[in-house]
Amino acid sequence: MKKIKLAEGIHMLSMNVEDMLFEGMWEIANGVTLNSYIVKGDKTAIIDGVIGWDGVPETLYKNLEEIHLSPKDIDYLIVNHMEPDHSGWIENFEKINDDFTILCTEKAAKLVTSFYGDNNRIKIVKEGDVLDLGNGKKLSFHPVPNVHWPDTMLTYESSTKTLFSCDMYGAFGKMGEHHFDDETTSEEVEFFEKEGIRYYSNVMTTFTPMVRKAIEKSKEFNINTIAPGHGPLYRKNPHKIMDDYLRFSQYAEGAGKNEITILWGSMYGMTAKAIAFVENVLAREGIKVNKLEMPLESESEMVATAIKSAGIIIAAPTYEYKMFPPVATAIDELGRKKVTGKVAFYFGSYGWSGGAEKELKEIIERNRMKWDFIESVEFEGSPRQKDLEKIEAGILELVDKIKNKILE
Ligand code: FEO
Repeated sequence: MKKIKLAEGIHMLSMNVEDMLFEGMWEIANGVTLNSYIVKGDKTAIIDGVIGWDGVPETLYKNLEEIHLSPKDIDYLIVNHMEPDHSGWIENFEKINDDFTILCTEKAAKLVTSFYGDNNRIKIVKEGDVLDLGNGKKLSFHPVPNVHWPDTMLTYESSTKTLFSCDMYGAFGKMGEHHFDDETTSEEVEFFEKEGIRYYSNVMTTFTPMVRKAIEKSKEFNINTIAPGHGPLYRKNPHKIMDDYLRFSQYAEGAGKNEITILWGSMYGMTAKAIAFVENVLAREGIKVNKLEMPLESESEMVATAIKSAGIIIAAPTYEYKMFPPVATAIDELGRKKVTGKVAFYFGSYGWSGGAEKELKEIIERNRMKWDFIESVEFEGSPRQKDLEKIEAGILELVDKIKNKILE
């Protein structure tokens, strides 16, 4: 855990975590950083206290002591969001400090009780409520429901113009030496662009309309620094991450980079025979290609890659009268995440009968994905020259259609 001073009386405690599944399901290839913040006036508050993934808070207590704070000195625990990556230490903390107040939204208060038992320390805060810590430090509270849980709020410190944004404006990816946007190298900027999209797509996409409202709410503050619960802090240009989040939200509704993702699977190599041909066509057209072979690709990478692509090619055979299950499952996951409005093209092989395209339509319909499909190509067995010609025509139509969707 690192300790970094942000301003007089404000410290960040930051911890890298890896080799875990976020929310118990998302493999995060490059780890994640958990940030919590101490704000000290005459009274002291901790915002989103983080602990090791094993639930042991001793590391946090040791680090508090190194900035000359005992856990008993903490007067207020600000719970911006109850997900246990931010709040998992409450139960333990109560064993060593019996005199503190939890400030959170009404929705979070219910979760505190349901997760950790009855609690008489809670003070519910509403939009605009202010906590005066003394010595010039004032915190105000601003609910942003469903980003991504219903309990979430932003906390703003007025003397330093710092917005503690919790999951909002967060990114996956471990941080090294550089924690602020004015320190990061161009490679790190690129890394956090990718990890920001991965985070948005894995955690936030389903709640895109509410994220947009939270962006609008953020714009109401005079901000010097955005301090999220995960990933880098923004003090050189806080508006950049707001613009990035707006762009990610547009990816969730059909826009994308000038890239096409081939989401594919093959049982015995018949559908796969067309993939190399497709790659050559896209290379000739100057389009960056992402290949996701299911079920080999992680769900985290699949959702992150698909969402940022302006076009999607689905290539999968029929399996037992339906779509090859690993690819069908991937599309259904994109539907559950409410990835809408993509331009797409399907092709695939069948043996004794088709059925994959029919199931694909059902998945798109059931999840109300509103994807715009080029006419599909289904072929018997191995693709013949005439099939490849139809596939090429489909791809060229797709390449033309994504021109209106590109947003870098
Ligand atoms: Fe960072 Fe929603 O937990």
